[in-house]
Amino acid sequence: MTGTIGILTAGGDSPGLNAAIRAVGKAAERAYGMHVIGFRDGFAGLMQNRTVRLDGDSLSGILTKGGTILGTSRIKVHKVDLGNGDKVDMRPMMCRVVEQHDLTALICMGGGGTMKNALRLHDVGIPVVALPKTIDNDVWGTDTTFGFDTALSIATEAVDRLHSTAHSHHRIMVVEIMGHNAGWLTLGAGLAGGADVILLPEIPYSEDAVARSILQRKAAGSNFSIVAVAEGAMSAQVRKRHDELKALIDRCDDPEEEKLLEKELAALHEAERRSTERLAAALEERTGLESRVTILGHVQRGGTPSAVDRLLATQLGTAAVEAVVRGETGVMIAVRDGRPVAVPLSEVAGRRKTVPLDHPWIQSARRLGVCLGD
Ligand code: F6P
Repeated sequence: MTGTIGILTAGGDSPGLNAAIRAVGKAAERAYGMHVIGFRDGFAGLMQNRTVRLDGDSLSGILTKGGTILGTSRIKVHKVDLGNGDKVDMRPMMCRVVEQHDLTALICMGGGGTMKNALRLHDVGIPVVALPKTIDNDVWGTDTTFGFDTALSIATEAVDRLHSTAHSHHRIMVVEIMGHNAGWLTLGAGLAGGADVILLPEIPYSEDAVARSILQRKAAGSNFSIVAVAEGAMSAQVRKRHDELKALIDRCDDPEEEKLLEKELAALHEAERRSTERLAAALEERTGLESRVTILGHVQRGGTPSAVDRLLATQLGTAAVEAVVRGETGVMIAVRDGRPVAVPLSEVAGRRKTVPLDHPWIQSARRLGVCLGD
């Protein structure tokens, strides 16, 4: 089979992206004699027709590199901000670029936002195949996403390292872990690193419950605690107001009132950016133990991908080429029980895979006596 495959990477970068680009490029060229081009900086590069040829030379030596050699960005293809406040549907322009290159398929690598964009492009006739990458592991329809394993190791190592200093100073160490609105990374790293408290977006927490568990440890002779808190975790009080506001906005048909509600929601989100510091201060006051905050941030997304992520990205990249060759588009190549499977994008887009409350990791945490804040 001849033809050309286009690749783009979108959303937050993630370890394993280059391994996936390499897998697509090499499999397409070696197994099927196809040409491969990359679009720079995600959907923005597709819109602007900024391309790079992906051949033997450019694909060599990238397997172990972090980030994405193509660059990335976050835009909505049907609502591109032109800088003057106007939002324009750029899909017709993207269709023209795809036609110009006579692409057999466009492979889009990304997380939840990318899946929505991929479906939007599929809806206007672009033959799309998507691959699930994100450190958050929150893409619906796949057991896991590449990038998660690497980030999990980095976050776990951070929790490990905080133990010795927490112990030495008899402190509460509050560590904020990424994951957007899903708790996979925090739960995984918290459990693997032996955190005493794990707070997730899926389980609204009470400061009282957390303080009580730390005081119980103190009474039992452990004058330190590690609190792993997901960036999207919310106290029960804040979560209640957050959900109320969202429901009110959904139901509202008065534009003026809707504006006010949106403003309150934005203020709540803004205040939540400092929620980890606030929690640490509150715990210090309630327990009499000094507290310190560590925000891991983008360290979790950087650097060399783990062997597991390289394997997953390679497996999914080659499977994506097989799907293109079969003419199967409008799908995401997921992994289920270790095997690649094609899942319709219409099933994936707009859904988020959060941690089920009966997940075995949650059950293990509870049996170990880890405080989950509820
Ligand atoms: O989706 C990956 C992720 O790292 C999330 O965990 C986090 O909320 C977000 O991206 C951060 O985005 P940015 O890199 O734009 O600050």
